[in-house]
Amino acid sequence: MKKILVTGGLGYIGSHTVVELQNKGYEVVVIDNLSNSKLEVKKRIERITGKPFELLVGDVNDPNVLEQLFSKSSFDGVIHFAAFKAVGESVDFPIKYYQNNVSGLITLLAAMDKYETKNLIFSSSCTVYGTVKDLPVNENSPIQEAESPYGTTKILCEEILQDYVKHKPLNVILLRYFNPVGAHPSSEIGELPLGVPNNLVPFITQTAAGIREKITVFGNDYNTIDGTCVRDYIHVVDLADAHVKALEFAESMSTSIDVFNIGTGNGNTVLEVIKAFEQANEMKLNYQIGARRAGDVEQIWADTTKVSNVLGWNARYNLNDMMKHAWKWQENLENN
Ligand code: WQD
Repeated sequence: MKKILVTGGLGYIGSHTVVELQNKGYEVVVIDNLSNSKLEVKKRIERITGKPFELLVGDVNDPNVLEQLFSKSSFDGVIHFAAFKAVGESVDFPIKYYQNNVSGLITLLAAMDKYETKNLIFSSSCTVYGTVKDLPVNENSPIQEAESPYGTTKILCEEILQDYVKHKPLNVILLRYFNPVGAHPSSEIGELPLGVPNNLVPFITQTAAGIREKITVFGNDYNTIDGTCVRDYIHVVDLADAHVKALEFAESMSTSIDVFNIGTGNGNTVLEVIKAFEQANEMKLNYQIGARRAGDVEQIWADTTKVSNVLGWNARYNLNDMMKHAWKWQENLENN
C-alpha cells in the first residue's frame, strides 16, 4: 500500500484530500500544527472512511519534527497543504507569511531530499496569474506580480520548485486552485473559518445561519454581466480528487515538473452565487452592495483543457451542489 504524507491534512482542502486518498487505498500520515484546524477533524475523517490514520501534531517548519516523521516512514509522496492563506492577513503580516509558507517548503524539501522521497504535489493558487486579459486562463498565461504577500509566497514557492528539480531528482506537480467551496456531502467535514470569514461562501452560510447580519457585495461596478466579480468556484471534493489524480500521474511523468489549473472552467458572478445559494436552499439572503475590496481581480476562470486531457480529471459537482453542501455543513456545525 502506498504511503503518503499530507501536510496540513486536518485543514479544509487537506481533510477532504485525506478522505479521497484513503478511499483510493492509500495509507495516509498527517502532520498539522492545528493553526487553522481542529483535532476533532481527525475523528470526523475516520468516521467517513472507517480507516484510522497516523497524525503528528507539529509544524513543517521544524526540521526535528520532519526528521521524526521521515526517519520512521518511507513515503511514496507528499501533498503539501500546510501554509497560511488569508490574503488580507498577509498584507498586515508579510514576514509571518514568508516564514511559514516559503521556509516551510524549504524545510520540507530538505527532509524529502535526505530520505529520497520522489513525488511532491504542491498547493498553489490562481492568484499567481493576477489580473488576466485573455480568459479563460491557461497554464501558459504569464505569472504576474502578486496583489498580496500571500500571492507572492505562492509565486516564490513555484519558482523554488521550478529551480530545484533542475538539480535534484524529484517529481513535482503544481496545482493552481481556483475558488474552493462547499463541503463533504456527509457534512462531517467542511470549511472552519476562524473569526469573521474573508471568503464569500462561508460569509453566505454564516449569514444564512444568522451569525452575520448581512452580506456585503464588494462592488457592482465591474465590467461583468451584472457588475460583480467573476470567479471559478470549485467543489472541495472535486479539488481533493484532483490531488489523487495528480499523485497517480506524478509517478509516471516524463518531465520533472508540471502545472495544472484546477477549476471547473465556468465563471460565476458574486450575485449569481448568492442567487444559486437562495435557490438551492430555498431561502432569501440579506445582502447589500458595498465598495470594491482592494486587491480583487475583476474576473478569472480556468481553462481546464490540460488537466482534463493529461490527468483525465473533470469537476463533477455544479454550483447548486456546492451551495447545498455548504449549507448542510453550516447547519451541522450549528447543531453540534
Ligand atoms: C470571491 C468574490 C469578492 C466576500 C481568495 C484567495 C485565493 C483563494 C480563494 C487560497 C470576490 C467577493 C467576498 C464578501 C464579497 N484562497 N466577496 N463579499 O478573493 O477570489 O480568492 O480565496 O488559495 O487565493 O485570493 O475569494 O471568496 O474572498 O472572494 O463580495 O463578503 O466574492 O470581492 O469577488 P477570492 P473570496
